[in-house]
Formats: sequence, C-alpha cells, structure tokens
Amino acid sequence: TPRVFSGIQPSGGLTLGNYLGAIKRFVQMQEEDFETIYCMVDLHAITVWQDPADLTRNTRELAAGFIASGISPEKSILINQSQVPEHAQLGWIFNCVARMGWMKRMTQFKDKAGKNAENASLGLFGYPALMAADILVYHATHVPVGEDQKQHLELTRDIAAKFNHDYGVDFFPMTEPVIEGAATRVMSLRDGSKKMSKSDPSDASRINMTDDADAIAKKIRKAKTDPDALPSEVEGLAERPEARNLVNIFAALSDRTVEDVLNEVGGQQFGTFKPLLADLAVSKLAPISTEMARLMDDPAEIDRILAKGASQAREITAPILKRTYEIVGMVG
Ligand code: TYM
Repeated sequence: TPRVFSGIQPSGGLTLGNYLGAIKRFVQMQEEDFETIYCMVDLHAITVWQDPADLTRNTRELAAGFIASGISPEKSILINQSQVPEHAQLGWIFNCVARMGWMKRMTQFKDKAGKNAENASLGLFGYPALMAADILVYHATHVPVGEDQKQHLELTRDIAAKFNHDYGVDFFPMTEPVIEGAATRVMSLRDGSKKMSKSDPSDASRINMTDDADAIAKKIRKAKTDPDALPSEVEGLAERPEARNLVNIFAALSDRTVEDVLNEVGGQQFGTFKPLLADLAVSKLAPISTEMARLMDDPAEIDRILAKGASQAREITAPILKRTYEIVGMVG
C-alpha cells in the first residue's frame, strides 16, 4: 500500500493554516487507502531557540491537536521525531548527499534566517536534508503539505535521486507532494499578502486552534477586507487577496469548492458574510479546542500513545536505515 508521511513543528500553537493546509488532509488520507504516519518534528523545532519547558508542552499539545482533529492512534502511527532515532541517523547521511548550493536556494531558510544569516544555526541551514530523511526513512510515497513546503519536497526528490545515482541503486522512491484543496495557503487576517503564521507578532492575524468561540468570532469580524460585495465568479477574486482568503477558508471549512461557495454568497457584503464564516469556523473549530484541552489533562496518556507510535515506527525505519548503511559501505 502507498505510504503517507507528514510532520508539523511543535514550535508554538497550531493555527488555522496548519489545520486547513495539513491536518484536515491528514485525517482524510487516514480514511483512504494509505498507511499513514504523522510526526511532531521536535528536532526541526530546535533549529531556532525553544525554551525546554515550552518544547515539552508544545509537543504534547500538538499531539493532542492531531488526535482532537481526528487522527486516530489506532489507524495512524503518531510519533515524536526524536523518539525515532533513525530520522536523525539518515539525516546525517543526507547531509553528505545534499549540496551547499541546493540548500542556499531554499526560500524558507532565507526567510527564517533573515538578514543575519551568519548567526543562524547550522541545523536551520541543513533543515531540508533532515526533512528528506523524515520522509525517506519510511520510503513514503505521498506527503500532504501546504504550498510553502513545495520547494522542500522538490529537494527531497533531488536527494533521493542523487543517492540512488551515486550508489548505483534504485532504493529511495520519488515521493509525491500532495498539495490540494481550497486552503493550501491560508493568508494572514490582517494582510492578504502574508501567510498566516504562528510566528506573526500580531495574534489578530491568525486563528489559533486553542482560541475560544469569542476570540474566533472577533478575529473574523475584524479581518481586513475591501469595501466591495463578494463576486459570484472565481475570477472576481483575482485582485482581492483578503476577500479570496476568507472565501477559501469558508470553502475549506465546509468541504465545498470555491465556485460552489460563491454561487451561494456572491453579491453579499462582508457585513453579512463574516458572521456566516464566524459561525462556521466556531462550529468546526470549537469542538477541537475543547477536546485538545481535555486530552492535555492527561499528559501521561499522550506519552503512552507516542511511545507506542515510536515502537511501531521503528519496525519500518530500522530495516531501511540498516539497508542504507550497507549500501553506503558501513561495517555493522
Ligand atoms: P510547519 O510546522 O511550518 O507547518 C505544518 C504544516 O502546515 C502547513 N501550513 C500551512 N498551510 C496552509 N496555509 C498556511 N498559512 C500554513 N502554514 C503552515 C505547512 O505547509 C505544513 O504542511 N518543514 C515542515 C515540517 C516537516 C515536514 C517533514 C513536513 C518536517 N519534516 C516531512 C512534511 C514531511 C514545517 O516546517 O511545517
């Protein structure tokens, strides 16, 4: 069966962007004909400073977010990256396969390192090689992600191809990115040209998965828009990033196409549309945040789920790492 792998950083709370761009799709794929493995990537998180107590809490909270959103530990393997050491071990091999020039072209490194790249960690620079290892240590065939991860997944294919070529093997598969649906790039509620992000200094720019009903409704009411009514055709959203974003969110939350949504709401003013969107968002998200809070009351149970996930994962990763070492010529 085809195998799905994807990961999320436990570097702060989950946003609506993570939910619509990634987790919602993770849940769908779990119900389809795939073997699914989902991961809290704590090794990736520490490429920028994380307070240790926050990292622990954020990792458990992210696990709670996965489960509350519908990832079942019975149907999927749910893991924390550092508990499956083969990720880091294959990551080292890939550090030796990937080229400096490839890494320098990664736009996420440039964004995250900012102007002072000399002061960025070496881990941040090598981040995409570890990400390739996350995926390929399972021989995963499909990787559901948001639009912003596309370049990293192309690099994953480049690393697999170079390894196979250099060692004269056909060992690592070419993984397919799965970037689908109305919300592959959810934008800030304050600025339609910026991605919704947990690191944005303005809390009003995003919906957090832990926000309560009042906070969700208030942020949507205050979301930036333009003064025009909603169009009834998709083309009418082309030059209207804020309007397009809210319609995309509506479509993704209700599992409808943008065309279908515009058929219904075309002609409405934002004064009418925003309350509809707020009600929809609250009805979909509030049960998740309630369930997350309930799960967080029992961290030991979360830890048990992750320990079980790690041992299931290692049944897959250990033989693949062993074979990789043999191909490379390591005595073992
Ligand atoms: P991260 O933690 O930044 O984001 C997790 C997932 O959420 C998606 N996402 C969004 N989708 C739509 N709109 C947004 N505004 C938005 N913000 C975030 C991301 O595209 C991602 O799918 N490098 C990854 C983590 C990772 C990984 C992997 C992913 C590590 N190893 C292996 C897949 C496979 C990251 O930083 O995601």
